[in-house]
Amino acid sequence: MDLKDLYRDVIVDHNKHPRNFGVLSPADAHADGHNPLCGDQLSITVKLDGDKIVDVKFEGHGCAISVASASLMTEAVRGKTKHDFTTLHNKVHELLTEHDSAIDPISLGKLGALSGVREFPARVKCASLCWRTLEAALNQTVTHSDQPISTE
Ligand code: FES
Repeated sequence: MDLKDLYRDVIVDHNKHPRNFGVLSPADAHADGHNPLCGDQLSITVKLDGDKIVDVKFEGHGCAISVASASLMTEAVRGKTKHDFTTLHNKVHELLTEHDSAIDPISLGKLGALSGVREFPARVKCASLCWRTLEAALNQTVTHSDQPISTE
């Protein structure tokens, strides 16, 4: 099995069996995200201990890539600080958008599976929706569906 097949299997698995799907109640932070291109929506709730993401869940509806990205993201950021999240978000954004990125997808573990998305520019917004939404939650900026999160 080559890396492309492995990454495809990771996306399929996390879409079929999304991790951390649901709502945290009470939550310390929350944001709603919306992909204006398709109308799909995502809601993210977070429990924080100071600067640390203790728990994070997502719910909503979206395509396979958006669900898989959210599932992978929630696994990757649990236990991380807000600063760690920002660093990881920047790397994933580069992986999604820059063909000549120097970032080795393997260095990002399962998140490396998102590297295939850059071959499909129209799907970048699908993969980045959850990241932008968690960023908004951590900034305590609640974004409503009539105020779409820009994923530019
Ligand atoms: Fe809607 Fe991907 S098509 S989030």
